[in-house]
Amino acid sequence: MKGVLLFFVVAVALLSLQWKVDGPTFVQLKTPLAFPEIPVSKSNPLTEEGIELGRRLFYDPILSADESFSCASCHQQQFAFSDGKSKGVGIHGDTLVRNTPGLFNLVWSPQLFWDGRAHSLEAQVFEPVRKHNEMDLKWSVAVKRIKKNKQYRAMFQSVFGSTKIDSVKVAKAIAQFERSMISSNSKFDQVLRGERFLSESEYRGFILINDQNKGNCLHCHTSDGDALGTNGQIVNNGLQQYRNDNTSDRGMANITGSEKDVGKFKIPSLRNLVFTAPYMHDGRFESLEEVVDFYSEGVINAPETNPRMANAKQGGMHLSDQEKKDIVNFLKTMSDSSFVSNPAFSSPFEQNE
Ligand code: HEC
Ligand code: HEC
Repeated sequence: MKGVLLFFVVAVALLSLQWKVDGPTFVQLKTPLAFPEIPVSKSNPLTEEGIELGRRLFYDPILSADESFSCASCHQQQFAFSDGKSKGVGIHGDTLVRNTPGLFNLVWSPQLFWDGRAHSLEAQVFEPVRKHNEMDLKWSVAVKRIKKNKQYRAMFQSVFGSTKIDSVKVAKAIAQFERSMISSNSKFDQVLRGERFLSESEYRGFILINDQNKGNCLHCHTSDGDALGTNGQIVNNGLQQYRNDNTSDRGMANITGSEKDVGKFKIPSLRNLVFTAPYMHDGRFESLEEVVDFYSEGVINAPETNPRMANAKQGGMHLSDQEKKDIVNFLKTMSDSSFVSNPAFSSPFEQNE
């Protein structure tokens, strides 16, 4: 019996060794408490090697015209991968039309960009690299540069099991890195896990954002009460009058051409707001106080304003100064300082080279 067992142990050890030698190591992300289950991409399963390759590409200026600019030039970890500016600024110094969003918890986000025009992280990657006012590099040149690099050749081989390198594989690797960027250790998460308590003001803020007659935030900033901070939809929150205004960014209507989509933008997460100012698609608000003032008394009741902006007819919720403070205090508890300092998401270049 002992002999059989020993044989079994050796066989399993050999098998697992074999598995490691043969291909990359698959990664199963853990679903944090109160988050929806993590969707798994069948066409691009996560592996340790894939995430590492994606991280390198994300930080590598090789993907820009003069090799001076990377994804991380605009998406900086200290700002939860936004940039601290009202609107993004590209390689040639041009100001873009929109605010650079933070990047976290995108594994749950089926629609990307403020107007939802990209339907996967893989598809999203293609835009910034080739756009003249962002990284300004032809994909054919990008791939040529990567092929010349010995370390990249080895890394692509270990991730994809082949020496063939193309733009689709570059996009897949970057998407893997982005899927690994989960932020779930804010004070709010620690409270949910029973490790800490909210202050009185933070607790009042939490009640207010849930209360349909008060803050009424959660119709849009959660689905089914999960802790993502957004339901991922693209709606008009009554920020301004967009109809017949061709000078403003008309959001989703630019993509669909439909008047009913004017002013519709992707609902950003309430997480990590401490790091991602300024706010909204055009970075119009510098502070959370300004955001809450808008929801309290600045809402425009346009025909396209989403009906879930329940008090739009009265211009907003009309909160007291104390209620506004409480909401801001609660929002801040959803920011995760361990995410902005997590070495797993920082530049691989500064550490090793
Ligand atoms: C010049 C600054 C800049 C660079 C460089 C840049 N981005 Fe962005 N990124 C932006 C801006 C601005 C947006 C929003 C654009 C929009 O919605 O139209 C954005 C949007 C995104 C989104 C969508 C996020 C969401 O929640 O919908 C992802 C993902 C992303 N970028 C990843 C990348 C990757 C990967 C790279 C490198 C290949 C990159 N970005 C390079 C500025 C930049
Ligand atoms: C009808 C849906 C809806 C409701 C209700 C709603 N929001 Fe929003 N929220 C949005 C949309 C859409 C945006 C982005 C709008 C834009 O950029 O044009 C947004 C943006 C924000 C932002 C900016 C985040 C960033 O990263 O730029 C904050 C903060 C915010 N909302 C907080 C709140 C609070 C607090 C409440 C309740 C008082 C609330 N929201 C209610 C849809 C909603």
